[in-house]
Amino acid sequence: MKKIQISPSILSADFSQLGNEIRRLEDAGADMIHVDVMDGHFVPNLTIGPPVISALKKQSSIIFDVHLMISPVHKYIQAYSDAGADIITIHPEATKDLDLSISEIKRLNKKVGISLNPETKVDVIINHLNKIDLVLIMSVNPGFGGQKFMPEVLDKIKRLKEVQEKQRLDFDIEIDGGINFDNSKKAIEAGANILVSGTTIFKSNDGDIKKNIELLRSR
Ligand code: DX5
Ligand code: ZN
Repeated sequence: MKKIQISPSILSADFSQLGNEIRRLEDAGADMIHVDVMDGHFVPNLTIGPPVISALKKQSSIIFDVHLMISPVHKYIQAYSDAGADIITIHPEATKDLDLSISEIKRLNKKVGISLNPETKVDVIINHLNKIDLVLIMSVNPGFGGQKFMPEVLDKIKRLKEVQEKQRLDFDIEIDGGINFDNSKKAIEAGANILVSGTTIFKSNDGDIKKNIELLRSR
């Protein structure tokens, strides 16, 4: 079994203190930081873009796990790579040619992630699984932090694990949205090895992020 990794979403951080927040997460034991990029078009919310990521990258050596909720995504891949993304995750609905976008991320020597919305089926990416590093399973509809976890997506993780074993593949399975101390165990048991969390990490236990990261990891 792979080591369980925690990727805190900075969507719930103090945006006026982002550099400090990232260093605080690194000190608290985060394995990477999850950067939610939203365009007000693919999802009904707007967040940050390459200049902010590039400035933050200089503040820390932690892995930047960049989740692009933007469409069309293809023409922006290079900009996020240049800004310092280590993992670039895209949604299949956001590109005309998924294969081409996967190749572009690989050409830039970044890890490739593909994200599935709650209603998107595993079949959409089944023929791409041998080319990617990570599948990001959305357990809420993308757009906002603080939403309720959708347990029905766990079946997709189980299916991915089966395919992974059968085909001897090694991609990571990350889960994103509404993760808390009650459902993290179920996500891990289903086969997720990277947990994204914003609200639980920043707001539970009076914002004790170290404790919250440890609690999520050890469930
Ligand atoms: C939703 C984002 C998530 C989300 C996680 O569109 O992709 O990363 O912010 O935040 P919580 O843990 O609050 O659901
Ligand atoms: Zn995300």
